[in-house]
Amino acid sequence: MDSVKVAILGFGTVGSGIYEIISEQQERLEKVLGRPVEVAAVLVKDCSKERTIPSDVLVTDDFDDILRLSDLDAVFEAIVGVEPGYTYLSKAIDAGLHVVTANKELFAYRGLELKQRAEERGVNVRFEATVAGGVPIIGALCNLLRMNQIVKIEAILNGTSNYILTKMREEQVSFDQALSEAQRLGYAEADPTNDIEGFDALFKVVILAELLSGQKVDWDEVYRKGISHITAYDLAQANGRIKHIGRLVIDGDGIHADVRPISLTESHKLYPIEGVDNAIVVTGDLVGELVFQGPGAGKLPTASVMVEDFVDLFKSARKPVDIF
Ligand SMILES: NC(=O)c1ccc[n+]([C@@H]2O[C@H](COP(=O)([O-])OP(=O)(O)OC[C@H]3O[C@@H](n4cnc5c(N)ncnc54)[C@H](OP(=O)(O)O)[C@@H]3O)[C@@H](O)[C@H]2O)c1
Repeated sequence: MDSVKVAILGFGTVGSGIYEIISEQQERLEKVLGRPVEVAAVLVKDCSKERTIPSDVLVTDDFDDILRLSDLDAVFEAIVGVEPGYTYLSKAIDAGLHVVTANKELFAYRGLELKQRAEERGVNVRFEATVAGGVPIIGALCNLLRMNQIVKIEAILNGTSNYILTKMREEQVSFDQALSEAQRLGYAEADPTNDIEGFDALFKVVILAELLSGQKVDWDEVYRKGISHITAYDLAQANGRIKHIGRLVIDGDGIHADVRPISLTESHKLYPIEGVDNAIVVTGDLVGELVFQGPGAGKLPTASVMVEDFVDLFKSARKPVDIF
């Protein structure tokens, strides 16, 4: 039986999670797809690093090796930053491959271009994992978009910031102490700028705004403020809980988006969301308020929505249906 043949670009937290799920869940994959899935190759930056990858899987640092593979169907992309991911995915699309990405920075900057390129080439680009990790918000919005007008989205989109604010408030510790603890627990990178200055949440807000509008977002129009200026005193004095919120309001003038710390009172749906979780409150004109909550990052949650994306692409037919 023909297998679905894939390559994984990046083999860090997320890439290795994709590999793990595909290797360990062959039975489920075969049941849903009707054929096995084969990881033919893995692309990394440094081939000399020790990894537990079987010898029949090609490990390379040269993307042309991936393009040279025969009968490849799709690539998963889990590299960090806009480049080289954008170049690799453009070439993959041009070669007729479907693409599933977790790379929010790349998708915030160049996602619309990739989608257009894929449409022209007759392949699909899936990006569920770029917003809120394991929470399937992109798919939910696509389904809602069929009939509802989305009028507002308010969301906790960065688990690291939410963890830091929760820790500072609950334990009356300083920002620096809470950040160090987040780094010790692996929630924050050695360079935490993207998380604490709001860039990570901004990327996700831009991706959501472009999904809703189908148009390129003018980044200068999106106000961004992080949490690094917040003190334990600010949290104690706040009327409610200060949370770092990404917000989109859609009205007759278009989409208004911002990313900033906001004090929420107890009645707000995001008030009880603590620690590293992400949560998204979506208001549709017909359905009203919906709340989505779950792990916004992590190896298996993120990898699992990517494999879900992939399965969705291939399950109905060899030629996938474009729902976006
Ligand atoms: N971690 C999460 O929970 C999470 C959640 C949602 C989305 N994401 C997104 O998923 C992507 C991957 O995140 P991650 O946490 O898995 O990162 P990571 O652990 O740092 O892994 C990055 C991988 O990319 C490879 N890589 C880096 N530069 C490369 C290059 N120039 N060419 C080829 N490979 C290259 C690295 O290779 P080496 O192994 O050789 O260094 C490594 O295997 C990011 O875009 C991130 O924003 C992550």
